[in-house]
Amino acid sequence: MTLMQSQLEILILAAGKGTRMRSDLPKVLHPLAGKPLLGHVVDTAHALGAARTCVVYGFGGEAVPQAMADDRLSFVLQAEQHGTGHAVKQALPHLADDSVVLVLYGDVPLIRPATLQPLVAAAQAGRLGLLTVNLAHPDGYGRIVRESGRVTRIVEHKDATPAERAIHEVNTGILAVPSRQLKRWIAELRNDNAQGEYYLTDVIALAVRDGVDVETHQPGHEWEVLGVNSKAQLAELERIHQNGIAQGLLEAGVTLLDPARLDVRGTLACGRDVVIDVNCVFEGRVELGDGVQVGAHCVLRNVRVAAGTRIDAFTLIDDAEIGAANRLGPFSRIRPGTRLARDVHVGNFVEIKNSQIDDGSKINHLSYVGDTTMGKRVNIGAGTITCNYDGANKHRTVIEDEVFVGSDTQLVAPVTVGRGATLGAGTTLTKDAPAGELTLSRAKQLTVAGWKRPVKQKKES
Ligand code: UD1
Ligand code: CA
Repeated sequence: MTLMQSQLEILILAAGKGTRMRSDLPKVLHPLAGKPLLGHVVDTAHALGAARTCVVYGFGGEAVPQAMADDRLSFVLQAEQHGTGHAVKQALPHLADDSVVLVLYGDVPLIRPATLQPLVAAAQAGRLGLLTVNLAHPDGYGRIVRESGRVTRIVEHKDATPAERAIHEVNTGILAVPSRQLKRWIAELRNDNAQGEYYLTDVIALAVRDGVDVETHQPGHEWEVLGVNSKAQLAELERIHQNGIAQGLLEAGVTLLDPARLDVRGTLACGRDVVIDVNCVFEGRVELGDGVQVGAHCVLRNVRVAAGTRIDAFTLIDDAEIGAANRLGPFSRIRPGTRLARDVHVGNFVEIKNSQIDDGSKINHLSYVGDTTMGKRVNIGAGTITCNYDGANKHRTVIEDEVFVGSDTQLVAPVTVGRGATLGAGTTLTKDAPAGELTLSRAKQLTVAGWKRPVKQKKES
């Protein structure tokens, strides 16, 4: 016998208003780890290999499809929210007749593919796969009613008798079912219940009536099925998610001085013997090479850092490429388009933007280097500024190998400093400086003999 697998179609319900978020942003667009709640669920759908993923949206209008633009998604508007069954009904015309449908929720972001696979498998085998969980405090949830151990129906909290309310096994809302049956049962739903809504949960009793087995599974962790209804719940899920990332990094051998004080809003890939101090934020895609050390309170966004580099406290790096064996910070700011080669030192209160700095160069104190190409073994004195902007256009500064720039120098771009040149402290460089020579622009020092400081005049009384 050959097993024909039906293709998987995933419905993500995301039409709810989320009143308790007290926000103009649709609930499912609130970020968790820097990504919309709905984005986490969409990633899970893609991970499961869904042939089609359909998002049912409503509150917030086009904001949801606009924010989530992705060729692999289709969007269905549920203009008025008449319940979860009504939401599913809106999407049915978009689903094939011979597929398997998995229903997920845009505000339940931490569900793992491994927890969903057995439900999909149950539906592939012609059964109804239902995810349930046992809660100490089941208030508000739909209860799983069983007879002789077999599920017979779900009763919503508001419709439940006191005896039913005593049941601790609750509906997570997540289920998988062959589409042909789902289409039939959804058409039969009625809204004669306490909330006047079409309940998706009523399909359970219809399945039982039609002799379709209901197969329940439970998630590996209770947090997988937690939903977000308020900012407090969002913050709680953020911590759970961050803790998971931190545990993964620890298992991979990364030293986290405090795993409770780490925020990864994207992906963080680490080599061996990486050390991360407290309160660092990693955004986008960040890669830290072997032996990289990150001091406290650093923010790194879309950065690759090569082996052996040390980043001291309070350093911000955005969209840059940091070479090996560098020393950055404390208090350095590296902005987009910057590439630091090997053994580069960038010190406190130094800002570098869209510049390439070659091996062994040092910019240690209070400087701004923008739109600059810098050679090897250059030394930039404290308080040096590249004046890259003339008020209308940006211009480049070129500093060749082994240049020494004295403190408090301004380089008015476009300008080139030749190889091995020295610029005297306080120079305002407006023309190219020749290689190997000392160039300076300051006036000659003089002493005014006999000069006296002014004194305060005595007041007449
Ligand atoms: C639902 C379940 C309940 C389960 C609980 C788990 C039903 C009838 N009840 O209850 O058994 O224990 O979830 O959290 O399904 N939504 C729409 N359109 C609608 C209504 C809801 O898109 O018209 C979406 C919401 O945005 C939300 C989800 O469906 O993401 C669940 O809706 P909600 O009203 O929170 O369901 P509950 O009453 O909590
Ligand atoms: Ca409801």
